[in-house]
Amino acid sequence: VDPALIRNFSIIAHIDHGKSTLADRILDVTGALTAREQVAQFLDKMEIERERGITVKAQTVRLDYKALNGVTYRLHLIDTPGHVDFHYEVSRSLQACEGALLVVDASQGVEAQTLANVYLAIENNLEVIPVLNKIDLPSADPDRTRREIEDVIGLDCNGIVQASAKTGLGIRDILEEIVARVPAPKGDADAAPRALIFDSWYDSYRGAVIMVRVVDGVLRKGQKVRLMATGRDYELVEMGVFAPHPTPITSLGPGEVGFLVANIKSVVDTKIGDTVTDAVHPATVPLPGFKDVKPMVFAGVFPTDSGQYEDLRDALSKLNMNDASFVFEPDTSEALGFGFRCGFLGLLHMEIIQERLEREYNLDLITTAPSVAFHVYMTDGSMRRIENPAKMPPTQSMDRIEEPIYRVMIHVPSGYVGAVLALCQERRGEQKSLQYASADRVIITYDLPLGEVLFDFHDKLKSVSRGYASMDYELVGYRADDLVKLDMLVNGEPLDALSVIVHREKAYTRGRDLAVKLKDIVPRQQYEVAIQAALGTKVIARTTVRALRKDVTAKCYGGDISRKRKLLEKQKEGKKRMKMVGSVEIPQEAFLAILKLD
Ligand code: GTP
Repeated sequence: VDPALIRNFSIIAHIDHGKSTLADRILDVTGALTAREQVAQFLDKMEIERERGITVKAQTVRLDYKALNGVTYRLHLIDTPGHVDFHYEVSRSLQACEGALLVVDASQGVEAQTLANVYLAIENNLEVIPVLNKIDLPSADPDRTRREIEDVIGLDCNGIVQASAKTGLGIRDILEEIVARVPAPKGDADAAPRALIFDSWYDSYRGAVIMVRVVDGVLRKGQKVRLMATGRDYELVEMGVFAPHPTPITSLGPGEVGFLVANIKSVVDTKIGDTVTDAVHPATVPLPGFKDVKPMVFAGVFPTDSGQYEDLRDALSKLNMNDASFVFEPDTSEALGFGFRCGFLGLLHMEIIQERLEREYNLDLITTAPSVAFHVYMTDGSMRRIENPAKMPPTQSMDRIEEPIYRVMIHVPSGYVGAVLALCQERRGEQKSLQYASADRVIITYDLPLGEVLFDFHDKLKSVSRGYASMDYELVGYRADDLVKLDMLVNGEPLDALSVIVHREKAYTRGRDLAVKLKDIVPRQQYEVAIQAALGTKVIARTTVRALRKDVTAKCYGGDISRKRKLLEKQKEGKKRMKMVGSVEIPQEAFLAILKLD
């Protein structure tokens, strides 16, 4: 196809503003799907995505659109995920495009991720086309929303398309705007081929499949290609596009987008951001790649049944083949046995992986409280990255502990500013700015420790603002604070799975809460059990599980024999899941309960 007729674009939006619904309508209008296939949200493939209504893996389709001028254009719609945990996927999808549709819910207006996504699009020099969505809603206020887009983002909204992805209104207008305004790709068809890898996944029949956007030259089926980062050569055995179903093709020219199969065993070899070139006449300079992403949230993942350890390892390896952004390594815990320490991009990412492990691989898991990675400076001047509170070096060997700091941008109606400021202060935030975006909308910027943002910050923010506040965040650096390791002890033995790093001022409340919870969960023994919260050797809270007074099984004797047998069987079942901590037996459920609280 003539590159002049190609349009590559993404849809960007704040979460729930209707990006996936709009993508579906575009598929309808271009006739890409038969009526039977028009199930809602074709692009959200995985079951979990459909249930949660979020897009995790970017998915790209080729569509042919006959415009009002009679010319048929080839559109590549590159889907992007909406959640902040997956920012890096948005960014790399945008690098494969020349334009972006900015979808704004006309009943909600500009929100934090609207702005964050627009910045990403502008950084990538994309033509941004704003669209007002959901104008079918009685609460839609297109005039106000248009003013917000002009004032806050600075985009010209003359002739802005008013659409409803629900009713199908305005979809053709959007396609006409894309054809008219998104620049055609520029590229040299005769140059040595250079194609950008912007996604890859594992297919059990084909091995690694890579999604590319060709910049220069032509890739052909059967060609010997080289991945420039690793320098390895492969034969292109299969090429295809999603139209929207996988469709084989024999070549991809400048500006085109499609997938490649080349007998690559693992996605680990297909570095996202790498350049595919010809093996015999390679390009000399690779395309500019992407920033590396690092996991920010860490947690121990343990099978509740130790017999499932190998299954868990297999499952993690398989998931990792598709998602190289999470990491894992073997870990052991006194309390939970053998498992893995895993690193994730954020909490949502962690929940998704955990859910997939349980659902798709039938595993029963315990996940420890998530932690951030600390930079620990030792008295000898060296620095260690600590991702597991249980592995913190002894206090006297440390000079200081630094924690990751996020710059958090919060959009909120002016009436809730006070409540939001109070929340940020309580979370050890440092205010950076406070601006009025319009008469009644405020943008508040804070630097907050990631550990304080991770847990229930978003929920709290929503509740203090009655659901009106939205937020976005990015890592800005590391900062030292008075951080301490809080241990929980049972009769003097630490429960490593429950250790956390907290600010000294919060250690007392946290320790007391945990001690009280544990007291209710640890079963009574023949003797008294002390439960303590400690900072190093200093105990800061204590509760006591009193000794049993009488034999609980006594009442069974002489009773109904089948009831007794049932009880014994239940005890045996329970035994398997008991963990010895010093001389005290603690059911695994206790850890589960503690880790679920919070
Ligand atoms: P993520 O994929 O999670 O980023 O969300 P999204 O931006 O793709 O939003 P999605 O398409 O899932 O739409 C969110 C909700 O808004 C869904 O319940 C849609 O049915 C609804 N919705 C989308 N477009 C319209 C519209 O034009 N009008 C109305 N009334 N509802 C819409």
